Amino acid sequence: MRLASTAAELPERPRDGARAIVMTMGALHEGHLTLVRRARELGAQVIVTIFVNPLQFNDPADLERYPRTLEADCALLEAEGVDAVFAPSVEEMYPGGDPVVTVSAGAIGEVFEGAHRPGHFDGVLTVVLKLMHLTSPDVALFGAKDAQQVIAVRAMVRDLAVPVRVEAVPTVRDPDGLALSSRNVHLSRADREAALALPRALAAAAAAARNGDPAADVVRTGTNVLTEATRASAKFAVDYFAALDPRTAQQVPDDHRGEAVIAVAATVGGTRLIDNMTVLIDPEGSP
Ligand code: PAJ
Repeated sequence: MRLASTAAELPERPRDGARAIVMTMGALHEGHLTLVRRARELGAQVIVTIFVNPLQFNDPADLERYPRTLEADCALLEAEGVDAVFAPSVEEMYPGGDPVVTVSAGAIGEVFEGAHRPGHFDGVLTVVLKLMHLTSPDVALFGAKDAQQVIAVRAMVRDLAVPVRVEAVPTVRDPDGLALSSRNVHLSRADREAALALPRALAAAAAAARNGDPAADVVRTGTNVLTEATRASAKFAVDYFAALDPRTAQQVPDDHRGEAVIAVAATVGGTRLIDNMTVLIDPEGSP
């Protein structure tokens, strides 16, 4: 496995195969490794990027605190049979400081996660586009866990005609249902118990959708589960629970029909968690 800190050090593109890229900020867990395995399944040359992107952090302390575990990450990736790791420095990515020209996520960047972290999705898209240019992949894999990120990347690729196929990989969960996240290590036992209200609320909403309930009722069903959790634990606070349009990330109207991303964000004992599930809302198509 090659470790490259500049694009020039990357291996040659395969002559008659594809190149896949998995972009990460490191501190790798099974969620990231699942993206890598999916990339390998495609039979592609696999490049994993590790770069803690300052542009997408609005809190400097958060950026400072972000775990950096390059050696351990490389050992995990080598064991997965990755062809190369691209781990550029901040100076390599942004020589002369922050870029003057950036990508805007537009309205996608202003709602839900974007409302909570202004500028975050602009920073994500700017680094994603730059990493795509530096590595010229055929396919880029992203976790469905970060639903709004996938929506933003798909919109960028579509609107700016970026010649890369975007593939979303289903969220990897612990056996108890909690979505894997590097933040889960901050949860105490009691926090973790409370946090299970997120997948529980999503499952309840998904069941309501399967039952043929209209969008407003699907959201209400999940919200009820979260209200219960808020009553049970003083450390549990909901930020949002909503049905989003999978193309625009905007909240769907009460009479929405078709796919919707049920998305949730909550804080548990100071740790902010997000999760989501895609459902089909089809009141009249149901039995
Ligand atoms: P990071 O948080 O390191 O995540 C890298 C990729 O792993 C993302 O596509 C994310 O959705 C995916 N991932 C994380 N947890 C997952 C889980 N439980 N199941 C499935 N996939 C999961 O997302 C970023 O980095 C950055 O914003 C980045 C795209 C690298 C741009 O800087």
